[in-house]
Amino acid sequence: MRIAVLNDAGGGEPRVAATPETVKKFTGLGATVAVETGAGTQAGLSDADFEEAGAEIAPTRAAAVSGAEAILAVRAPEAATLAGAARGAIVCGILNPMQARDTLDAYANAGLTAMAMEFMPRITRAQSMDVLSSQSNLAGYKSVLDAAAEYGRAFPMMMTAAGTISAAKVFVMGVGVAGLQAIATARRLGAQVSATDVRAATREQIESLGAKAIFVEDVAGIEGEGTGGYASEMSEEYKAAQAKLVSDHIAKQDIVITTALIPGRPAPRLVSDAQLQSMKPGSVLVDLAVEQGGNVEGAQAGEIVRVHGVRIIGHRNVPGRLAEVASQLYARNLWNFLSAFWDKEANTLVWPDDDEIVQGVRVTHGGTVGNARLDA
Ligand code: NAI
Repeated sequence: MRIAVLNDAGGGEPRVAATPETVKKFTGLGATVAVETGAGTQAGLSDADFEEAGAEIAPTRAAAVSGAEAILAVRAPEAATLAGAARGAIVCGILNPMQARDTLDAYANAGLTAMAMEFMPRITRAQSMDVLSSQSNLAGYKSVLDAAAEYGRAFPMMMTAAGTISAAKVFVMGVGVAGLQAIATARRLGAQVSATDVRAATREQIESLGAKAIFVEDVAGIEGEGTGGYASEMSEEYKAAQAKLVSDHIAKQDIVITTALIPGRPAPRLVSDAQLQSMKPGSVLVDLAVEQGGNVEGAQAGEIVRVHGVRIIGHRNVPGRLAEVASQLYARNLWNFLSAFWDKEANTLVWPDDDEIVQGVRVTHGGTVGNARLDA
């Protein structure tokens, strides 16, 4: 069993899909691991670190994938670069299957079995394999630090001999994995935190973290929960009530962190230009959904935009801004996934067609593209 670990840096991705820790685990199972040279550089891992853990360092992508039965990447690699892989090799990564149909077609044509890690079902057995959770948690944390760095005032209340500084007011919109971590981080920094979500179940979670829940009341369909614990699209009546509530609240906030996503759809628009105008000059917004279309009007992916005296931070790939820990957790997600399907006797990976996890993540197989979420 040969596993190739790709260098994603060419595509501007600083994270890496394996670490010395997971290389040791794979070699312990009897696999050989080939790491494309430089794969870990931006995540603080040198070729020597991987070599010491038992990996072979491949000087090129072609050398790394030659004969590989499993290919580990962060982002979807070009199918053409995987030409030398073993027949039916699996490719694991955050493959963006909803938007990258051409890439999936190319994998299918090349006979590759692609595993889109972001499609991991949200079931107990798969929790340790859930890349959206591991990466969103870090993004939520980093979003608060990014806001604090741009903000010209302090987060905690400070009582000094020269006078008192009031605590920053932080409002978190969208309380999934990233939002919960943003609340916790902002609280640790001493901010006064409030939060909102469309899923009624989050109210208790917000309050248990010591933040104030801001919720639409008395509107039909406020449950907001679709399948798999994700949000659903809300009614027009709800959206209008939410906009009014947010307008009143947002004008008093110093920092707004938005994280709202609806699977398979563009991110919902939560903050309008008029609402930005109502905010105090010097306020800072972080739009974690900017790559999915953005929650904040005017947010630009990869930029910090100044508008009406406030700043909107739209960094791309926020987990990649913490590449070392993001890689550590992502690599463990992949290890947990692959080792669960490892047949020790045969020293190979076995993918039962009737397994819920296999059905969830597999997007190409046997020369065709297929997955319930793509067909839906
Ligand atoms: P997500 O990244 O899809 O969305 C972020 C948040 O935005 C969600 O809480 C969503 O309800 C909210 N949102 C969507 N539209 C909104 C709107 N118009 N206004 C305000 N908020 C809006 O969500 P994430 O972080 O993936 O979590 C979704 C759920 O899945 C959570 O309940 C989480 O606890 C659960 N989960 C379960 C796991 C498991 O069982 N293995 C693993 C990870 C998460």
